[in-house]
Amino acid sequence: MLTKINFNAGPSAMPPEVLHEAAKAVNKYKKTGLSILELPHRGKEFAEIIAESKQLVKELCGLDDRYEVLWLHGGGRQQFFMIPMNFLAADGSAGYIDSGHWAEEALEYATHYGDVQVLATSKEANYSHLPAWPSKIPKQLAYVHFTTNNTIYGTQWSNIPETKNVPLIADMSSDIFSREHDYTKYSMFYAAVQKNLGTPGTALTVIRKDMLERIVRSLPPMLNYSAQVKEDSILNTANVFGIYVSLLMLRWIKAKGITAIEKENKQKAKILYDAIDKSSVFAAHVKEKPHRSMMNVCFTANSAKTEKAFLELCDKNDITGIKGHRSVGGFRASLYNAVPLEAVEQLVALMGEFEAANG
Ligand SMILES: Cc1ncc(COP(=O)(O)O)c(C=O)c1O
Repeated sequence: MLTKINFNAGPSAMPPEVLHEAAKAVNKYKKTGLSILELPHRGKEFAEIIAESKQLVKELCGLDDRYEVLWLHGGGRQQFFMIPMNFLAADGSAGYIDSGHWAEEALEYATHYGDVQVLATSKEANYSHLPAWPSKIPKQLAYVHFTTNNTIYGTQWSNIPETKNVPLIADMSSDIFSREHDYTKYSMFYAAVQKNLGTPGTALTVIRKDMLERIVRSLPPMLNYSAQVKEDSILNTANVFGIYVSLLMLRWIKAKGITAIEKENKQKAKILYDAIDKSSVFAAHVKEKPHRSMMNVCFTANSAKTEKAFLELCDKNDITGIKGHRSVGGFRASLYNAVPLEAVEQLVALMGEFEAANG
């Protein structure tokens, strides 16, 4: 039995059922007589794991055979450089929407390969709101990259912006599978898996096949999307355990259903934002309600002393992972799919008690 209430931003809370199944597989994987940690990456059992995981991703995203599903090493950041390596020619241009730390890091990585146009930014406001989506997207761009949910600043796009004929690529690391979503709007999307989808180190990357025709330079196979597709993500020794845990997460998501997951995520976020908005001690980092993230709720207290006292109180009450990122300060409660409603209710109750004593 785990004893902490976990609001960490990633690695983050996992469903108890998934932890149980993963632990069982560490002891023995099905009837193989082997632990999942000993399972060959080129064997029949792992081929089944890959096949089922790909099928579930397509089913949950409503995608047909025009899309390829990959499990790649290197987490989110490896996608930051694989994307421009594959699609941004030295004399080409790519568009980036700068809505927070990760969006900015993605665009910084791209500057090593070609020209980068920052199409919109909210940096001047310390990313406390989303930037306005550009009214015109230059036609010659190789692609437009944006981040659907800004993990550090707690903003989230509620609809998918339009790029006409320019391929749209989304970093969905911190909100994939958290709500109903039209994934067919993207030419490519990816997610570091350590939030809604498993254990760190791997990225889920989904790519529309026509993008593979747009690869602009010769690359070593590990970094080439086409080569990874050809080898079914098993070019080298795959992250067998990590991908298996992602499969368990996908099964859990399917059993619960995205509609139910979204409903609960909205409920969790509402309870917490409501408590913050009516508080005289706490204040939300993101004031514009339509820009607020359902996944990462960022808030501050009225003084550094109060923040320290509330963090200590959380610690005493076994609430962990609530400290905000250094660029925002204060607190951040990450409410990913596996965080139960009761956890948020407990946090809100503690905030109430704290306010009664300190407000
Ligand atoms: C939106 C987003 N993109 C990318 C990353 C980077 O992922 P990784 O640490 O796996 O490189 C993170 C990490 O938290 C993230 O939140």
